[in-house]
Amino acid sequence: MTNTTIKSMVQPKAEHHNQPKTIYLKDYQPPHYWVDSVDLIFDLFEDYTEVRSTLCVRRNTGIAQEQTPFILQGEELELRALVLNGKTLDLENFDLTAEALIIHTVPETFTLEITCITHPEKNTALSGLYRSKALFCTQCEAEGFRRITFFPDRPDVMAKFTTTIIADTNLYPVLLSNGNPIEQGLLINNRHWVKWEDPFKKPCYLFALVAGHLIALEDHFVTRSGRLIALKIFVEWENQDKCAHAMTALKKAMKWDEETYGREYDLDIYMIVAVNDFNMGAMENKGLNIFNAKYILARPETATDTDFQHIDLVVGHEYFHNWSGNRVTCRDWFQLSLKEGLTVFREHHFMDDITQSAVSLIEHAMGLRSHQFAEDAGPMAHPVRPESYVEINNFYTSTVYEKGAEVIKMLKTLLGTDTFRKGMDLYFERFDGQAVTIEDFVACHEFVSKRDLTQFKLWYSQAGTPEIEVNEEYHPKTQTYTLQLKQSCPPTPHQPKKNPMLIPIAVGLLNAQGEDLLENKTQILNLTETEQSFNFPSITEKPMLSLLRGFSAPVKIKSPLSNEQLAFLLAHDSDDFNRWDAGQMLSIRIILELIEDWQKSKPLKINNLWWKAHQSLLEDKRLNTALKAEILMLPSSPYVIEFLDSADPDAIFAVKKFLRKEISRRAKKHLLQLYQDNHNTERYCYSTETAAKRFLKNLCLSYLMEYPDKNHMALCLKQWKTANNMTDSLAVLGILADVDCPEREKILEEFYNRWQHDVLIINKWFRVQASSALPNTLECVQKLMQHPAFDINNPNTVYALIGTFSHNLVCFHEKSGKGYRFLADIILQLDTINPQVAARMMTAFTHWRKFDKDRQAKMRSELERIQKTAKLSTDVYEIVNKCLFGTSPQT
Ligand code: TRP
Ligand code: ZN
Repeated sequence: MTNTTIKSMVQPKAEHHNQPKTIYLKDYQPPHYWVDSVDLIFDLFEDYTEVRSTLCVRRNTGIAQEQTPFILQGEELELRALVLNGKTLDLENFDLTAEALIIHTVPETFTLEITCITHPEKNTALSGLYRSKALFCTQCEAEGFRRITFFPDRPDVMAKFTTTIIADTNLYPVLLSNGNPIEQGLLINNRHWVKWEDPFKKPCYLFALVAGHLIALEDHFVTRSGRLIALKIFVEWENQDKCAHAMTALKKAMKWDEETYGREYDLDIYMIVAVNDFNMGAMENKGLNIFNAKYILARPETATDTDFQHIDLVVGHEYFHNWSGNRVTCRDWFQLSLKEGLTVFREHHFMDDITQSAVSLIEHAMGLRSHQFAEDAGPMAHPVRPESYVEINNFYTSTVYEKGAEVIKMLKTLLGTDTFRKGMDLYFERFDGQAVTIEDFVACHEFVSKRDLTQFKLWYSQAGTPEIEVNEEYHPKTQTYTLQLKQSCPPTPHQPKKNPMLIPIAVGLLNAQGEDLLENKTQILNLTETEQSFNFPSITEKPMLSLLRGFSAPVKIKSPLSNEQLAFLLAHDSDDFNRWDAGQMLSIRIILELIEDWQKSKPLKINNLWWKAHQSLLEDKRLNTALKAEILMLPSSPYVIEFLDSADPDAIFAVKKFLRKEISRRAKKHLLQLYQDNHNTERYCYSTETAAKRFLKNLCLSYLMEYPDKNHMALCLKQWKTANNMTDSLAVLGILADVDCPEREKILEEFYNRWQHDVLIINKWFRVQASSALPNTLECVQKLMQHPAFDINNPNTVYALIGTFSHNLVCFHEKSGKGYRFLADIILQLDTINPQVAARMMTAFTHWRKFDKDRQAKMRSELERIQKTAKLSTDVYEIVNKCLFGTSPQT
């Protein structure tokens, strides 16, 4: 058969493949072929899209031979034409499989023209080119580009991209891609086109395209070298009044990165597009970030303080990626933390600078302990740099992101601010324009610090949360204080034994008056051995130990301190983080004792020391507002579960409820006073200070409402009626959601009627109802799934309603197991629509072994039901198998 032109070849369906492959870091090989440039032409239609690409390809002669085939990944594509150096390829020249296009023999350098068809209008996975309402948009990270066209879809293949978009002029007046617009024109049939050129080489995961009827909020930024950058935020027309905060955040981030890291923006235009259907928070595509609308759109009436804060952080995060991720990118996906850990670290650093208090540290520690510690102790545990994966989308985890950021924070602590900055400068300079590894990153810091960081790098390769046992001794005769530290790390999948790590431990020693005894207050100890002692000379009295100040390492501490000592630190430590942390530890101990009592049906009694400590903080007029609020919050339930072997959600709930009621009953007067002191009737404007006041005020209101008597109810209703901002309204809604009373239904209805036109706000309405502890919550969630505002194809509504319910301590874990059955049903349904979202819903099941035997059995049977289902996505397949068998079957 010669010279057969392809009319159309549809890729064969992936034969399900109940055994997807495991990919290993140790198997990494450089690409056989480089792609120097790609020219793309998109012809967008309502029922299909044609993609023509022209690749200039060059053999990687160091590795590949003449007979080495050229392999391009592709998924769910239809191939229409394939032309190599001007000649149409015959069927015998290539193979088309479910995953790839394989061209058997190619010259050393060549041009390849590919025409294919894709169906964005049917793409519910939201990976590749898809439609979000009337908008075309893309999501290519991690492996979405292969769903747009055939391409060597790996981050170490970096090419220069030009992109032409052709579409209907009326439906899609705005046509965007990476880089700068260089040409445009009109065609017949009311169509038009725009051509974009990105001058920077990039991996295809950073490619982006947007087409739609959008309006841009425009502004500009002048870089410190005097270049004028056009800033544009594109949104749907009805949202044009909701972009101001995001624009301010962007300019703040640009300035901050110049001042703090010397990083300047490199293109003449920076674009952000807000879309409603998006799997994650946002995506850092070069010059054209695509955002989940919830991290862009905000007005005082529609967004909460938390929303405003998230917008600052996500806008910052994606902007910071321009250097940590785009200019210097990842060699392969095992190096994901190279860009994500580093960028989250930069984002945290940005937040520390904005908030100027320990609150930023507290919130990061809280996040890590509530999610990452559990992940590190469960069946999905993996090192910051994983060694293997089945589905890379499952590794966008809090280990890679948040623990990865903590690892860099430790590096900064160890090297000191100045040396760390030199290491960063060297990293950006040495690897600009390259795809590199975590080794390369650490090597820069080794070079500038002249230190051997071999042991430090264990943080990247060993999974699990290290635990530190502490013993102390004071010798009055020699006036020496000795601290003995022992480190260990529990076994994790494929890693039964661990080596001791280099752990920076920040310590302070206090005298009986609460004054710091050490020079510079805090000292950093480098713990390197399994067991190690540290001597502090010239300590004239037995000191009080303040350990792990500022959360200097992501570890667990077995504190040797008594409850009295913890209460002392809570009252007096000069390190705000440790004040809070001492309070958390003390509360955890009290909660654990009460859980035992509850399980033995003993009456619950308040611990007087605990109460006195909290009472004095409540009454402390000098204590910073934000810190006071953090301290007055009980430890999160996931964090409590960290301390239990067989968690009973009912017990945890009952005990926390008991403590909250006690605070409410005993401190009523002060709670009311604090409420009044922090209530603000001025025009709303988001700022860290006013947000802290609202946070504390609403916390007080929620405590008071543990006793929903007439007065407290009246206070709630008054706030509801007079609120001039979403934070205060939503606080009332959240409080009433847990109270079985007529006002509850009335206010839920009023809220809905007022905001029904705004999906983002209706998601808040879903969240509030799905997190209610009232016994009919599951039935309510099931009913809400029938609500016109709920859309199973839209990740935001799924996360808001189903995701929230799956983290509802009492109702999801309801004894009969009906919550588990419900979630499993939905996961199976979601898996056929959007595997990434289905896989995220699995998190509620991954810690099933942490619960009591009855609940374990019920969760296990749901996991088994999922596992036995035919045609699971690789996403859910990997998680369910690791949950049940600790591994995927063939590994
Ligand atoms: N790189 C994105 C970030 O800033 C993460 C991301 C966005 C993503 N969308 C995704 C990852 C879809 C996987 C799939 O963190
Ligand atoms: Zn990121």
